[in-house]
Formats: sequence, structure tokens, C-alpha cells
Amino acid sequence: MLILFLNAFFSPYFRAAAQSKLSNYNEAIKDCERAIAIDPKYSKAYGRMGLALTSMNKYQEAITSYQKALVLDPENDSYKSNMKIAEQKLRDLSSPTGTGLSFDMASLINNPAFISMAASLMQNPQVQQLMSGMMSNAIGGPAAGVGGLTDLSSLIHA
Ligand SMILES: *[C@@H]1O[C@H](CO)[C@@H](O)[C@H](O)[C@H]1NC(C)=O
Repeated sequence: MLILFLNAFFSPYFRAAAQSKLSNYNEAIKDCERAIAIDPKYSKAYGRMGLALTSMNKYQEAITSYQKALVLDPENDSYKSNMKIAEQKLRDLSSPTGTGLSFDMASLINNPAFISMAASLMQNPQVQQLMSGMMSNAIGGPAAGVGGLTDLSSLIHA
């Protein structure tokens, strides 16, 4: 219940955070492409591009990028292991039980940047009022609302 509530309440922030992450990855990929244009033998640029593509769930493209890195630097174990990770994720995605597309609440709650953002949101009186309203709608009764808010704050601060 609490997780559902958190999810609904914070989803605009999740989306914004995901959006900004996505544009960071796009920037990183552009940087790598520029580096490769200057020095086509710069294997690290392919390696880094593979990491960014993996983070964007573009596993097939990531694998292609690691393969290029490995052509230039066949001995590098980190390209090999990163490529294995991308291959595994690609398999997970295509299997029927694949979790590749599920929303990962646990990792979000463990994310310090998210926690501090959530904690500072909690300090905002308008947000508190809105939340206590949502809580009492969800649970019933103003007392439940106040209790819910306290629980939520302590969870966020925990
Ligand atoms: C392999 O590549 C990674 C990432 O570019 C780099 O940090 C590491 O030093 C390389 N290792 C070797 C043995 O060259």
C-alpha cells in the first residue's frame, strides 16, 4: 500500500529523473562518437558507449559496441564481462519471465539522491497537506492521514 502510494505520488519525479538520466546517457554516447571520429582506435570510447547503451536498455547496440572495443583491445576483461552482462540482459528481456521492463522501486528507494529529494519534498507544507489529504482518502479519516504522513516521513528518513 505504502509502495503504491509512493509510486503514484512520486511518478512525475521518477519520470523527470529517468528523463534526465536518459539525456545524460545520450550525451555520453555523443561524446564517445566524437572521440571515435577523432581516433577510431580508441577502444575505451566503445567500452563507455557500451555502458551507456546498456543503461538505456539498448543491449543489442551495447553488444555491438563492446565487440568493437574488443577488436581494438582483445585482452581487456572488463569489455568481456560487460558484454556478458548485456548479453544476459538481452536474454532476460526475450524470455517470457523477463523482468527487464519492470519498474524497480527497490533500487529507487535505495538511491540517496532520490531519498534526499523526497525528504526535502516532505518539508514543503503544501506537499504535506496534499499528502495528508491523499492519505486520508486512501485509508479513511483525518487521523489515519496524520498517522500515514508520520509513517511516510519516518520511512523516507530511515
Ligand atoms: C580495460 O578497459 C577499461 C575501461 O576502458 C579500463 O579502465 C581498463 O584499464 C582496461 N584494462 C586493461 C587491462 O587494459
